[in-house]
Amino acid sequence: MKKKIRIAFSEIILLSILLFIVLFISCSFRPNFSKPDIEGAVRVSNETCYGCHDTMKKIFQNSIHDRIAPFETGGIEKGCEACHGAGSKHAESGDPALIFSYNGKNLTPGQQSYLCVQCHTRMNWQSSEHPAHDVSCTDCHSIHTPQTGKLLAKSEPSLCFDCHQHIRAKIMMPNHHPIWEGEKTGRKRMTCSDCHDPHGSAVDGLKTDERLNDLCLKCHARYQGPYVFEHEPVIEDCCICHDPHGSIADNLLKQNEPFLCLQCHQFHFHTGKQGYDGTVPPTGSRNYTAVTSTYDSWKIATTTRCTQCHTQIHGSDLPSQSVPGSGGALTR
Ligand code: HEC
Ligand code: HEC
Ligand code: HEC
Ligand code: HEC
Ligand code: HEC
Ligand code: HEC
Ligand code: HEC
Ligand code: HEC
Ligand code: HEC
Ligand code: HEC
Repeated sequence: MKKKIRIAFSEIILLSILLFIVLFISCSFRPNFSKPDIEGAVRVSNETCYGCHDTMKKIFQNSIHDRIAPFETGGIEKGCEACHGAGSKHAESGDPALIFSYNGKNLTPGQQSYLCVQCHTRMNWQSSEHPAHDVSCTDCHSIHTPQTGKLLAKSEPSLCFDCHQHIRAKIMMPNHHPIWEGEKTGRKRMTCSDCHDPHGSAVDGLKTDERLNDLCLKCHARYQGPYVFEHEPVIEDCCICHDPHGSIADNLLKQNEPFLCLQCHQFHFHTGKQGYDGTVPPTGSRNYTAVTSTYDSWKIATTTRCTQCHTQIHGSDLPSQSVPGSGGALTR
C-alpha cells in the first residue's frame, strides 16, 4: 500500500516537471524573435561605410540615431552597425548578403525587431499582437527616408489602414471620432495612437495602464463619477454600448435606441406600444391603457429614445423619485 502511494507521488512530480517544461517553452516562444549574426564579422566604423555609401553620410548625420548620446543606448554602441550588424566582411567584398538589410532578404521580421529593441527596451513590444503576426518595426518606421515625424513611413491613419481595412470602413461611418477631420489642413484633432500604442501595452494595445474605461475617461472626464445612482454597464465597459471606431447610430452607439436598451431591459411606456390591428392589445408594463393603440403606434414605439426620459444614462446624483421608494431610474 505504501509503495503504491510513492509511485503515484513520483509520477505526479514527473508530470508536473513535464507540464512546467511545456509551459515554459510555450511562454518563452515568440516567433523568430532572436539575435541575428554574421559569422566572423567584426565592427568597423561609420567612416568605412561612407567609403562606398557616401550619400548615406549626409542622410545619417542629421538623424536622431547619430545624434544620440552613449547613455541613451544602454551600452549598445551607436552607428551604422548597431542596426546593420558587424560590417567587416561586407566592407571587404561589398557583398549585400553579408550585411543585415531590412528588405526581407537576410533578416526575419523578428530579427529586424530584435535589432531595434536591443536599444528600445522601454516598450511592451512582446505583449503586442504585431510581432505575433510578423509585423516588424520597419513596417511602420523608415529610418533613412521617413515621410513624417517619429520616423514614420507614412502618417497616421493611412499607415494603419494599409493593414486594418475594416477599421477604415468604420471611421467612414456617419458617426466617428474626429480622425479624418483636419487631415487636409494638417490640424488633426486625434488619431489612432491617441488610444492605441502600436508597440503594445498592459491592456490590449490601448494607451492606458488601468481599464478600458480609464482610457475613455481621460478625454470624457465628465462621466467619471462616482455617482449616487450608477448604471452598471457604464461602470463595467463603455464599449458595451459604444463602438470607439464608428457607427451608423448617433453618439457612436452600437445600436439605435430603444433597441440598444431593449437588449437588457424590458420595454415600457411608449416603447411598449405595438401596431394595433384591432385584436392585439397594447403590451408592456406601464403602457398607456387609456389610450388605445393605433395602427401606426409602432412609430411611437420604435422612434422614442429611452434617454428622452432617462436623460442621465451615464449616472446621476439626483433621485428619479417618480415612484415612491425607488429613485435610481436616471431621469434627472
Ligand atoms: C567596399 C564598398 C562597401 C563598403 C565599405 C560598405 N558597403 Fe554596403 N554595399 C556595398 C555594395 C556594392 C552594396 C550593394 C549595392 C546594391 O545592391 O545596390 C552594398 C549594400 C549595402 C546594404 C544593402 C543590402 C541589400 O541587401 O540591399 C547595406 C544595408 C549596406 N551596404 C550597409 C553597409 C554598412 C553598414 C557598411 C559599413 C559597415 C557598408 N555597407 C560598407 C558596398 C560597400
Ligand atoms: C537605427 C537603425 C539604422 C542605422 C543606425 C542605420 N541604418 Fe541603414 N537601414 C536601416 C533600415 C531599417 C533600413 C531599411 C530601409 C529604411 O527603413 O529606411 C536601412 C537601409 C539601408 C541601406 C539600403 C539602401 C536603402 O535605402 O534601401 C543602406 C545602404 C544603409 N541602410 C546603410 C546605412 C549606413 C551606411 C548607415 C550608417 C551611416 C546606416 N545604414 C545606419 C536601419 C539603420
Ligand atoms: C544603438 C541603439 C539604437 C538602435 C539599435 C535603434 N535605436 Fe531608435 N533610437 C535610439 C535612441 C537613444 C533614440 C532617442 C530616444 C528615443 O526617442 O527613444 C531613438 C529614437 C528612435 C525613434 C524616435 C524618433 C523621433 O523622432 O522621436 C524611432 C521611431 C526609432 N528610434 C526607431 C528605431 C528602429 C525602427 C530601430 C531598428 C531599425 C531603431 N530605432 C534602432 C536608439 C537606438
Ligand atoms: C504598427 C506600426 C508601428 C510599429 C510596428 C512600430 N511602431 Fe514605433 N511608432 C509608431 C507610431 C504611429 C508612432 C508615433 C505615435 C506614438 O508616439 O505613439 C511610433 C513612435 C515610436 C517611437 C517614438 C516614441 C516616443 O514616445 O517618442 C519609437 C522610439 C518607436 N516608435 C520605436 C519602434 C520600435 C523599436 C519598433 C519595433 C520594436 C516600433 N516602433 C514598431 C508605429 C509603429
Ligand atoms: C503591416 C501591417 C500592419 C500595420 C501597418 C498596422 N497593423 Fe495593427 N495589426 C496587424 C496585424 C496582422 C494584427 C493582428 C491581427 C488583427 O488583429 O488584425 C494587428 C493588430 C492590431 C491591434 C490589436 C490589439 C493589440 O493587442 O495590439 C491593434 C490595436 C492595432 N493592430 C493597431 C494598429 C495601429 C494603431 C496601427 C497604425 C499605427 C497599426 N495597427 C498598423 C498589422 C498591422
Ligand atoms: C477613441 C479611442 C480609439 C481610437 C481613436 C481608435 N481605437 Fe482602435 N480600439 C479602441 C478600443 C477601446 C478597442 C478595443 C475594443 C473592444 O475591446 O471592444 C480598439 C480595438 C482596435 C483593434 C482590434 C480589434 C479589431 O476590431 O480588430 C484594431 C485593429 C484597432 N482598434 C485599430 C485602430 C485604428 C487603425 C485606429 C485609427 C484609425 C483606431 N483603432 C482608433 C479604441 C480606439
Ligand atoms: C484622446 C481623447 C479621446 C479619447 C481617449 C476618447 N475620446 Fe471620445 N471623443 C473625443 C473627441 C475629440 C470627440 C469629438 C467631440 C466633438 O466632436 O465635439 C469624441 C466624441 C465621442 C463621442 C460622441 C460622438 C458624437 O456623436 O459626437 C462618444 C460617444 C465617445 N467619444 C466615446 C468614447 C469612448 C467610448 C472612448 C473610449 C473607448 C473614447 N470616446 C475615448 C476624444 C476622445
Ligand atoms: C448603457 C449604454 C452606455 C454605456 C455603457 C455608455 N454610454 Fe455613453 N452614451 C449612451 C447613450 C444612449 C448616449 C446618447 C444619449 C445621451 O446623450 O445621453 C451616450 C452618449 C455619450 C457621449 C456623447 C454625448 C456627450 O456627452 O457628448 C459620450 C462622450 C459618451 N456617451 C461617453 C461614454 C463613456 C466615456 C462611457 C464609459 C464610461 C460610456 N459613454 C458608456 C449610452 C452608454
Ligand atoms: C448590457 C446590458 C444593459 C444595457 C445595454 C443597458 N442597461 Fe440599463 N441597466 C443594466 C443593469 C445590469 C442595470 C442594473 C440592474 C437593475 O437595477 O436592473 C441597469 C439599470 C438601469 C436603470 C436603473 C434601474 C433602477 O431602478 O435602478 C435604468 C433607468 C436603465 N438601466 C436604463 C437603460 C437605458 C435607457 C439603456 C439604453 C440607453 C440601458 N439601460 C442599457 C444593464 C443594461
Ligand atoms: C416617457 C418616459 C419614459 C420612457 C420613454 C422610458 N422610460 Fe423607463 N422609466 C420612466 C419612469 C418615469 C420610470 C420610473 C422612475 C422611478 O422609478 O423613479 C422608469 C423606469 C425605468 C426603469 C427602472 C425599472 C422599473 O421598471 O421600475 C428602467 C430599467 C427603465 N425605465 C428603462 C427604460 C428603457 C430601457 C426605456 C426604452 C426602451 C425606457 N425606460 C423608456 C420613464 C420612461
